[in-house]
Order: sequence, then structure tokens, then C-alpha cells
Amino acid sequence: MCGIVGAIAQRNVSDILLEGLKRLEYRGYDSAGMALIDEPGKGISTIKTVGKVANLVEAANKKRASGNLGIAHTRWATHGKITRANAHPHGSSGRVSLVHNGIIENHEPLRQELTAAGYRFATQTDTEVIAHLIHQALENGEASLLQAVSAATARLQGAYGLCVIDRQQPDRIVVARCGMSLVIGDGIGGENFVASDPLALGQVTDRFIYLEEGDLAELTSESIEVWNGGRRVKREIATLSGKAAEMEKGAYQHFMQKEIFEQPQAIRDTLSGRVSEEKVLEEAFGVSAGKIFDKVKQVQIVACGTSFHAGLVAKYWLESIARMPCQVDIASDYRYRDIIVQSGTLFVAVSQSGETADTLAALRYASAHNRKHVATLAICNVATSSLVRESDFCLLTMAGQEIGVASTKAFTTQLTLLLILAIVLGRRNGLASEDEARLVRDMNGLPDLVDKTLQLDKEIRKLSKQFSDKHHSLFLGRGIQYPVAKEGALKLKEISYIHAEAYPAGELKHGPLALVDSDMPVIVVAPNNDLLDKLRSNLSEVSARGGKLYVFADEGIGLESDRSCKVINLPGCPEVLDPILFTVPLQLLSYHAAIIKGTDIDHPRNLAKSVTVE
Ligand code: G6P
Repeated sequence: MCGIVGAIAQRNVSDILLEGLKRLEYRGYDSAGMALIDEPGKGISTIKTVGKVANLVEAANKKRASGNLGIAHTRWATHGKITRANAHPHGSSGRVSLVHNGIIENHEPLRQELTAAGYRFATQTDTEVIAHLIHQALENGEASLLQAVSAATARLQGAYGLCVIDRQQPDRIVVARCGMSLVIGDGIGGENFVASDPLALGQVTDRFIYLEEGDLAELTSESIEVWNGGRRVKREIATLSGKAAEMEKGAYQHFMQKEIFEQPQAIRDTLSGRVSEEKVLEEAFGVSAGKIFDKVKQVQIVACGTSFHAGLVAKYWLESIARMPCQVDIASDYRYRDIIVQSGTLFVAVSQSGETADTLAALRYASAHNRKHVATLAICNVATSSLVRESDFCLLTMAGQEIGVASTKAFTTQLTLLLILAIVLGRRNGLASEDEARLVRDMNGLPDLVDKTLQLDKEIRKLSKQFSDKHHSLFLGRGIQYPVAKEGALKLKEISYIHAEAYPAGELKHGPLALVDSDMPVIVVAPNNDLLDKLRSNLSEVSARGGKLYVFADEGIGLESDRSCKVINLPGCPEVLDPILFTVPLQLLSYHAAIIKGTDIDHPRNLAKSVTVE
């Protein structure tokens, strides 16, 4: 979602800001803007455009934008329409300019108060109140921008990552973090940077300071000072590297395609150090994890979107392998429920980004009930994320940077770790060491099986042509394959905009069968398991009503294509791996269907990679 970049240097920073915004495009946005101070006394020049960052680049080139100090932003509309005026930066009286990620919940009463005090509002955003509050604080005698930001933010309720400049103090940027992530980039020789994601600054530095909750910081070209609760604090500098290559598409047409094909390696990296040939290496969870696992009697998983589907799959593994009850909840629902926590519950938050607002809020809500939770565990792809930092312990997916909005390799690596978790808990609940050895051997074979499955790409590309005139589709799966069907449906709707619904195949008769006709493709995942015969009956129910079936089947079941049923055979695999393997062809199907529909695959309309607001 919204992205922030700021820079202060002894050179023109406009290209640095624009490059930073480009690097944040993957998060999803609808407009962009930039504010620069060129020479002291010359005022703040602001450029904003609706649509892609490329429009802002064009406008900036036309205006020959330049300045040694600047802030920039990509906006994903929450309050107020997608217009140039509502795009950030927002200012007050030509003196203050700022960019903001997050939502100010008490913006209405503040707007009324500021209007009564004589401020005129130029936008419909919640953000504009912050600019006026800071201006008011400066005019009321707060000597420094830092003090003014501190006074203004004390009035705010909600979440913010802020980056503020003042025409009369053109040698500094002040930033503030509350509920939204912000990093400072430590530049070399007289320049410093700030961004909502270190990725935005990969071209200028690899040294970062991760701000903590409640931090305020002042950046000049020569210094970085961080404050919290009125006191100067020291924050460590972390060095990040190897990010740049992940930002390139290489030979692939889209990041999503690249990320689908990176899955064998991503799974290999995720397994590495976590399993030996026949055992899970429990130490990988951290030194105190073993003692925590000893106390676990059940698991509560919370997540959003694709990560939620990973949780739904894990429930089956936790029941069958760990023999433990497991509850899975959508984070936005869980955080507002009157939850009942059974003693011995391990709380697991699953998230690619670790910055999803609802998942973070659910973790905080769970932590507030922590007397009964054994501990909170984050399964996450970003080591430096808020979720990881706020959980008791974490297990990182090693998927590498995921840029395509539609999550692919993050999902299959989340599943890999959740299976490992089920084994570790299973050990304490009767899972025999020979069963563990078999499961781990199966897992070690997974990257090659995914590789083989990816070879279906050509066949699936051909098949996707049949989706060119389709507007609706149905996905069916039974048991553990139901969440896989849900994930397949989500992928298709996210990037091809074809309406897709997933049903447990056994529910077909209870409603969805009414929708089946020749215009409704029915996509089925058919592994070789105990439920196969039941699934076969469901297929007959669809064919009998003139429905067209597309069945992804284990090659071992010997299903054959006919006029009403197109079968695509997957390599046979151990049953426990089915959910991971069967996800892959569904990702490819949605990718190719989206190509045919001509959508913007890496940036689907209205969606964001990282949903950092509620
Ligand atoms: C957004 C993304 C999805 C993702 C979901 C949860 O909706 O577009 O791809 O699954 O957020 O994100 P998380 O980072 O918490 O896994």
C-alpha cells in the first residue's frame, strides 16, 4: 500500500526519490507525489499525479524538479477519492509539507477544530489535519520541527509513518513512527534517507536503522538522531544486501511468473537448516522453542489472504500429524472477537510481509490475552518486519523478496514451515521417529517435484485460452484440498478478474450445482487419496449437467480426458505434499488466464501487496 521515501543530501535528490517510488510500486497505489526544497528561502515545490509513478517522473522531468531535500509518496486511497489533490505530500500554509502512511482515526474532530481555528482544507484526506497541526505548533512557538511534530502527533489517534519538512528549517527531515514501519537509510558522506521499506533505498545504501514504535527521528545530511518518550535513544544499524537482484525480472515477463518459477529454490532455502535427511532440526526455531513446544496443547493460527489459506491447510496437518486441535481465523475477524483462549494454546501469525495491519493487530490482541497463550510465533518472510519483532519467536520463510501482488512462493514456503511445525509438535504427541523420518524424506524431495510440476507450464498455457471468454468459475477440492481450491480461486480472481468461487466438493449439491452450465468452468484438484472415489462422483455430477471440467489429477489415478473433462496429470507425490504440489498448476492457470485477459498482472487493480491499513 502507500509508500514513503525521503532524502537529504548535498546533491539533487529527485531521481533518488522517484527511483525509490518505482521500487515501491509493487505494494499497490493509485497516485504519487513529491515535494522538494531547492535553495533555502525558495519555498517548497510540489508535484503530484494520478496513476503510475511514470506519470510523476514525466511531470518531474517537465518541471526540471530539483532539490537537496525532499519527500515522496505513493498513495492508496482510503479517505477521499483518487485525485491529484488527495495525493501526498500535503501541506499547510506553504510552510509545512508531509507524507503519511496509515490512518488517523480522530481526523474528523481535529478537522472541525482546525477549521474553527482558521485553517482551510484543500483535500478530503485524513492526513491533512497532521500538516495543519504541525503548522499550528510551529506558529504557536515550538522552536524546532521535531518539537512541533512531537506536539502534533500527541494529538493523533490511529496509525502513522510520517515524514515532514519545514520551509523555514530546510536542513532537516523529521520522521515519526506509530503502527507503520519506517526505516532510515544511513548514507555515505553527507546524505541520509528514509523509507517505508528498505527496498526503496537499495540504490543508495545498504545500512538501515529500523525505527521502533513511538520513535521520532531528525535527519540532517550529516546526522541521524532518534528520540522516544522525550529521550534520545540509540538504534542499531543493520546491513542488508543481495536485495538488488530480486528487484529484476530477468528473462521473465512478470514478477509473478518469476516467483512461481523460483519456488523449487525458495522451498530448498526454507528447508535448509530446518531439516536434516530424516529429522526436523528443532534448534532452528530458537533456543527456547523446545521448552515452549513442550507446553503446547493446541494451536491458534491467524492470517489474511493467501497466508490464511496456508493456515487452513496447516489445520489438517496439525490434526493428522501432531494430533492437536487447531483453530484458524481471519485476522480482521479474530481481532474483534471475544476470544476464549484455552490454556496451552500456541498463537501462530502467518504473514508474507509481516506488516499486514489486521494480522499485527490480531497478534497484539492475542498478546494482551497472553496469560493463557504459551507463546506467539510468527511465520513470516521479512526478518525485520513488525510482526517478527513483536512475536515471542519466529520462523522465517526463505522465499526472498516477493514483488508480485498475488502471493505465490510465499504461500508454498509458508506451507513448508507449517508442515515442519506439525512434525515438531507431533513428536511430543506420539509421532514415531520412523514416521518423522518418512515425512522429512518426503519434504526433501519436494523441490524436485515442484520443478517437475512447473514443466506443465506449456500445457496449462494452452488450456488457459479456454478461459478467454469466461466470467465465472468454480474451484472444487475435498478435505485438505479445499483450501488449495480456495487459493486457486483467489489467484484467478486477483489477477484475471474472473469471478472464482471455491467449494468443498462435497457441498456441490447444496447450492453451487445450480450454477453449473457450459459457461462455467469447474476446476478440480484430484490427488490420489482416500477421498478420490467421492471426488469422482462429484465430477460425474458436474458432467451430467453439461459443465466443463478441468481436473488437475495425480498421474497415478488414471483419469482420462474426454469431451466434458480435460485432465492435466501431475507427477505422483507423497500424500502429505499434495497441497503444496497442487497449488502450483493453479498458480500457472491464473497467470496465463490473466495474460489472455490482458490485465496488469504484477499490479492488479484495487489491490495492494502489503495491506498496512485496516
Ligand atoms: C494482500 C496481498 C495478498 C496477501 C495478503 C496478506 O491482500 O495482496 O497477496 O496474501 O495481503 O498479506 P501478508 O503479507 O500478511 O501475507
